[in-house]
Amino acid sequence: MPRYAITTFGCQMNVHDSERMHEVLRRAGYTESEDPKAADVVVLNTCSVREKAEQKLLSEVGRLAKWKQTHPEMVLVVAGCVAQQEGERLLTRSQGIDLVLGPDNIPELPRLLDDIGLGAPPLVRTVFDLEAPRFLTALSDEGDVARNPTVDARAPTAFVTTMKGCNERCSFCIVPYTRGPERYRPSAEIIAEIAGLVAAGVREVTLLGQTVNSYRDPSSELSRAPGASPDDPDESEFAALLRRIAAEVPGLVRLRYTSPHPRHLTPSLIEAHTDLPVLARHVHMPVQSGADRILKRMIRRYTRAEYVARVGSLVARLPDLSLSTDIIVGFPGETEEDFAATLSLVREVGFRGLFGFKYSQRPYTPARKLADDVPEAEKSERLARLFEVSEELLGAHLQRLAGSRQRVLVEGAGKEGTNAWTGRTERNEIVHVAGAERLDLRGSIVEVVITRANKHSLQAELSDEARAAAKPLPAAPPAAPVEAPKPRAAGERRSLPIVAAGGG
Ligand code: 5AD
Repeated sequence: MPRYAITTFGCQMNVHDSERMHEVLRRAGYTESEDPKAADVVVLNTCSVREKAEQKLLSEVGRLAKWKQTHPEMVLVVAGCVAQQEGERLLTRSQGIDLVLGPDNIPELPRLLDDIGLGAPPLVRTVFDLEAPRFLTALSDEGDVARNPTVDARAPTAFVTTMKGCNERCSFCIVPYTRGPERYRPSAEIIAEIAGLVAAGVREVTLLGQTVNSYRDPSSELSRAPGASPDDPDESEFAALLRRIAAEVPGLVRLRYTSPHPRHLTPSLIEAHTDLPVLARHVHMPVQSGADRILKRMIRRYTRAEYVARVGSLVARLPDLSLSTDIIVGFPGETEEDFAATLSLVREVGFRGLFGFKYSQRPYTPARKLADDVPEAEKSERLARLFEVSEELLGAHLQRLAGSRQRVLVEGAGKEGTNAWTGRTERNEIVHVAGAERLDLRGSIVEVVITRANKHSLQAELSDEARAAAKPLPAAPPAAPVEAPKPRAAGERRSLPIVAAGGG
């Protein structure tokens, strides 16, 4: 049986795409190899959002190409955003690549590998499925995830795709180029997938999309959500989708989404957050900068005041909601004053989580026309100052929770010896639960008492009530009828098989 190995770089969307490649390859009779050097087919699923990620890929390709000189039978596949971005050029830039595969062409992978096996020259397949978009589902052919023997029913969290591509034109961002225009998945398909996952034991679902809250139902089956204004150009059907999920999948415990665009944080979405207890009290809302001058050059299509007003009205309704964000430092033309505005915004909003990036110029982006004029050392310094502020805010927030009671969705075994279990609150704080080594908590929602705050997480013990209600772990692990799929990427939680559905 031919063996394959997949290495994943980049975002959750890529993790999700890698899962889909695992699935199509397994179905075509391939088995997974932990070691790329022992594999017949090696897939690198790539990210091009920042230059560093792309360089990482090219050095990995170089390493594998060298190995291939003495192992010419190995097939090397470059997939993902660098594949889509570079296409043919990858073949001339790097020797040894057999197949360049775009994100929309994953279902064709086994067939293309067959062609290569028959002696085809290096192939490039990077065509967007614009007419009949295909989306991922975790459903088996029978449409019932619960009957699929390869599902790891113990995984309590899962990602579900709602849309792909991006219609924004943020000047720094390559995603519209690598992922194409927005295409949405019919709401009934999304609901069916979530219902199937919940029936299989999933407790928390994260809806995935490049601008997840610009969702519109292509099958026009959603009724207008409360608060939705038909005249508002920023209005979408995302709130209606959330309401339908909540109504039709009552067994779902927690619902998250990522990543939204601030423009579509409309009154209807704020109402949905107020009305639906299933929505987690955490929203990741990328702001990118706190200076209007820079936001304009970034083509973000909102001002600082508009951002603050929108997240402000969400927090006014739900005061315990946590906000996190993405920020780019050193965008072309960013002065010290602009950066100071970003720091003041971070404090004003009180973000409890922050991903910070140094601007890196990307091909095919509008910002290429602007001189990348903030020196590297200055970018590094600004990033360090940004992280200092965000650590201070997170630290103060976590300190405030010491001694409180929290509800935690236990996601899996803890890493450190003293922490039996690890999970998250609905506000996304990471909680390590000690003193529960003999209890089986995976996938359950438990009440804990926070004993202390760490730098980035919380330490806790089970409440007496939760301890009394918890089931003991079986003495010996029960013989599994089917081997559960092994975890594949660091930080990856999903272990459900995925098949392409819909479209052609
Ligand atoms: N340079 C630096 N950071 C970038 N991001 C996207 N494009 C770039 C770029 N050219 C960041 C943004 C985005 C996150 C996923 O990556 O902050 O929200």
